[in-house]
Amino acid sequence: MNILVTGGAGYIGSHTVVEIAKSGHTPIIVDDFRNSRESAVDGIESILGYRPTVHAGDCTDPTFVESVFSQESIDGIIHFAALKSVGESVERPLPYYQNNIGSLVAVLEAALRHGTKAFVFSSSATVYGEPDSNPIPETAPRKQATTPYGNTKQIGEDILRDTAYASNGLLRSVSLRYFNPIGAHESGLIGELPIGVPNNLVPYVTQTAAGLRERLTIFGNDYPTPDGTCIRDYIHVVDLAKAHITTLEYLFSEDVNKPAYDVYNVGTGNGTSVQELIETFERETGVKVPHTVGPRRAGDVVVCYADPGKMNRELEWKAEFTTSQAMIDSWRWQRNLWFTS
Ligand code: UD1
Repeated sequence: MNILVTGGAGYIGSHTVVEIAKSGHTPIIVDDFRNSRESAVDGIESILGYRPTVHAGDCTDPTFVESVFSQESIDGIIHFAALKSVGESVERPLPYYQNNIGSLVAVLEAALRHGTKAFVFSSSATVYGEPDSNPIPETAPRKQATTPYGNTKQIGEDILRDTAYASNGLLRSVSLRYFNPIGAHESGLIGELPIGVPNNLVPYVTQTAAGLRERLTIFGNDYPTPDGTCIRDYIHVVDLAKAHITTLEYLFSEDVNKPAYDVYNVGTGNGTSVQELIETFERETGVKVPHTVGPRRAGDVVVCYADPGKMNRELEWKAEFTTSQAMIDSWRWQRNLWFTS
């Protein structure tokens, strides 16, 4: 199968491109390199031994998207391309709506015109907001989004559901709700490349351990959790990448009972606190992470971890990596960046 990967040079996208190729399919990357770098494609090439096709351009531009679809024969699509900084989305909502919704609509229109059969959308556990209880199953209510970024994920899910149902079974689609992706490829050749000061915990941990940042601030230790810090479901990015292949193969299978649209959580089912994650990093790498406790970050949910049972049962996918392994892999990647930059 030829699989179009929008945002294929990004963090999750690049790892997914590698897993697509390893499972015998052909990845085709589309990326505008606004928040990613060509070096991610170099890393993919070093891992695979060949360079996948890359179309550089903006997925909100229907003319560009059409040119890609007319040059390639595309069987399935994984749509990662999106802006993802939660804080920035609050300050500048319109680029988030324009980009995240505009690109989804443009890619879906092309998919329908060209008869593409399978579509996987990159959604987020953020659609659950502050959940009523944990672990969170897919049947939990989606709460009113508190940020434009989160709202684009909810709207994106709805656009995909409506489009899939209206296609009379021609387009089958799934929204994958990711929990917190961390880690990097074991080769150390691809990983997360935050531009500027990282917002997410693990890149901040590795940059602090590398001496690039003075100290990490734990955003609050007075939450109602065992050690007072927030709890998340940290999933290794390679496990997450593999979940996309499993999902595509499910969408391509001939089961007539499959719904035109479905949602799956992609998480480990384990909750880990900020404090525990820092301790795991220090234990696994032997490197100290100077840190201090600061005030809570506005908008943070207290506890958020997946019930991954639906994905485990229906698609026979299960997370395999531990957070310890993810810390080792993140650190290897950070050190490679450090030595090469
Ligand atoms: C965030 C987004 C989420 C998005 C995801 C993408 C928010 C509210 N949520 O999730 O919508 O899908 O990133 O990766 O922004 N922390 C610190 N110090 C730091 C950084 C983080 O203590 O310097 C803590 C946070 O308070 C949180 C945990 O680490 O408890 C994880 O934070 P982060 O990596 O930013 O992910 P989320 O906030 O869960």
